[in-house]
Formats: sequence, C-alpha cells, structure tokens
Amino acid sequence: MAEAIRSPNIWDTPDVYELENLASDRAGVIESAMAGLHRIDGARLLDIGCGAGFHLPGFARRGAQVTGIEPHRPLVAAARKRLATQGLSDQVEVLEAGAQDLPVADASVDIAHSRWAYFFGAGCEAGLAELDRVMRPGGVAMLIDNDATRSTFGAWFRGAYPAYDPVAVQRFWKRQGFSALPLTIQWTFDTRADLEAVVRIELPPEAADRLLAGHEGTQVDYGITLWHRTY
Ligand SMILES: C[S@@+](CC[C@H](N)C(=O)[O-])C[C@H]1O[C@@H](n2cnc3c(N)ncnc32)[C@H](O)[C@@H]1O
Repeated sequence: MAEAIRSPNIWDTPDVYELENLASDRAGVIESAMAGLHRIDGARLLDIGCGAGFHLPGFARRGAQVTGIEPHRPLVAAARKRLATQGLSDQVEVLEAGAQDLPVADASVDIAHSRWAYFFGAGCEAGLAELDRVMRPGGVAMLIDNDATRSTFGAWFRGAYPAYDPVAVQRFWKRQGFSALPLTIQWTFDTRADLEAVVRIELPPEAADRLLAGHEGTQVDYGITLWHRTY
C-alpha cells in the first residue's frame, strides 16, 4: 500500500464522515472560490487524498476530467463504488497512491485539489515536490485546510488540540509559495444527533462533551483557508 497517514475520522467511521461531508459547505463557498482560481470545465483535475470520493462526482459533472488519488485501499473501493452507483465509472478513475508518489505524467495536471490536506503539511514536503512535477504551467494547486485562528470550529479545534499551532501552519504554507484565500463555511446538519456524532469523531471525548453542552442547534461556522499556488 502507498504510504498513508492514518486518518481516524474517515478510516474508522466512514459513515459518520459522510455525514460531515454532507453537512459541510452546502452553500458551495469552496466550489465558487475554486472556479475563480481556475476554470473547472475541461480541466484535468486530481483530487489528492480523495477518501471515499465524496467530491469526485461534482467535479466530473462540472466538466473536469477527474482522477481521484487515495492511498487507503478500503477507501479506494468505497470511492469506486460511489462512482459506479452514480454511473460515473467510465468518466472518473480512482488510483491507489499517495501524494508523495503520484501515478501521473509530468506537467499533465491543471487543478490539484486536496481537501483537509494535513498530509501535505510540515514533514510531507515530498508531496509538494510531486506537485512541482505534475502541474502544468498555469495549473493551480488548491489545498483546503482548517484555519484554527478563527470561527466557532476553529476555537473548538484550538482548545481541543493545544499543541496545534495555527500560525506555524500558515508560515509553513507561505514558505512553500502558497497564497491564502480565507473562507468561512458552515456545517449544516439535518439533525442534532448527526452534529453530535461528527463532533465526537473530530474532537477528543471530554472536549466534545463540553463544547456540545455549550452549543445549541445544528449549525457551526467553520473557518478554512484555500491555499493556492499557480505553477
Ligand atoms: C480527512 S480525509 C479527507 C478525505 C476527502 N478529501 C474528503 O474531503 O472527503 C484525508 C484523506 O487523506 C488520505 N491520505 C492519508 N495520507 C495520504 C497521503 N500520503 N497521500 C494522499 N492521501 C492521503 C486519507 O487516507 C484520507 O482518505
């Protein structure tokens, strides 16, 4: 298997992670921002760390030529199943690989998208070197990450993981030549039970209990950064 960094939320509880994806950014803030950075229609798009392939059908329907990259074999299977269910198997391929060893030709990619891209962060520079190799001149890498300096979820994340230094994360991306596009998305759940289940896979149990007790309803605002770089 390709070298994968363990991702407990989606590896251990893929059904709850699906609820998280369904609740995230129903307004399409991220998709609009992406379209402002590079035309999606006709683009060769890699979704790196695509997990169970949640975002692949949307990109394909907007006219991209899409390849999902995912190192964790059960998720590769889940992504292929999703595509088959939606009649998209002929249009979208999913390859078992990691960011540090992309099975695609040099200078062949217009958009590299990676959502919750922790596996590109400090210590994972091999993946960033692969982007240098595979991106076409004029192509854009778009890496979507938490911005724990702001928003309700950002404050929850900072409080729950005090060793996480959001300012150091920002410095890292800037050193790698990426520019920040700050965005705020919403989690909008259908039920309170869904919200609680998701908070419990994202935060340690004691923090989850305490934060849920102080937060009403089914919505949470969530600060993110779309880190982007044109090659
Ligand atoms: C938090 S999940 C996000 C999945 C997907 N992007 C989504 O938004 O639904 C992170 C994903 O990165 C994958 N991953 C872990 N290490 C990786 C690596 N070295 N290269 C590429 N993907 C990796 C995990 O297996 C997991 O599927």
